[in-house]
Amino acid sequence: MIRTLTIIYTTGTGHTEFVVDTVITALAVSNPDIRVIKQRAEISKPEDLTKSDALILACGTWNTNNVEGMLSPYMHDLLAVRATTEDLKGIPAAVIGLGDERYFFTAKAADRLMEYLSVHNAKVLLPALKIVNDPFDQTKKIQDWAKEFSSALSKLPASIDA
Ligand SMILES: Cc1cc2nc3c(=O)[nH]c(=O)nc-3n(C[C@H](O)[C@H](O)[C@H](O)COP(=O)(O)O)c2cc1C
Repeated sequence: MIRTLTIIYTTGTGHTEFVVDTVITALAVSNPDIRVIKQRAEISKPEDLTKSDALILACGTWNTNNVEGMLSPYMHDLLAVRATTEDLKGIPAAVIGLGDERYFFTAKAADRLMEYLSVHNAKVLLPALKIVNDPFDQTKKIQDWAKEFSSALSKLPASIDA
């Protein structure tokens, strides 16, 4: 039974925060009993990745360290510098990655976050939510993904052996 969900995110312009907030609002309707902890990557510790029953990672794609197609700086610092040896112990998880079509590696953060989940032994619940360009007119896509995430959570066995 999933009772708590941690969403670790970071945002430069507010785009990722808008997507995360839209997901949280949708989940409040479909899964009103789940307590959601929304927290910034910059204040997150590696152990926060596994402190709830489920996890969502969310960020934009940036040119971190002057390389295009990277995770945004604070998420890079958390996942690629501070939490490199974390075992996610089968935690049910999903990712949200944003980007802009003007860049060659469009929204590659989504792929990088998915890779982090699989390398670190999370249970990936569904394909990444990829948001290309401004998210503000993409509410329907975000809500549909939240519904799928919610339905995947409800199909999990009552007791998860991590
Ligand atoms: C310095 C910088 C570098 C970026 N590099 C990429 C990139 O390599 N690929 C991409 O798809 N988008 C890139 N973007 C676009 C952002 O990922 C996109 O605007 C996203 O919505 C930002 O979300 P956020 O403000 O929540 O971090 C870049 C944006 C900036 C400002």
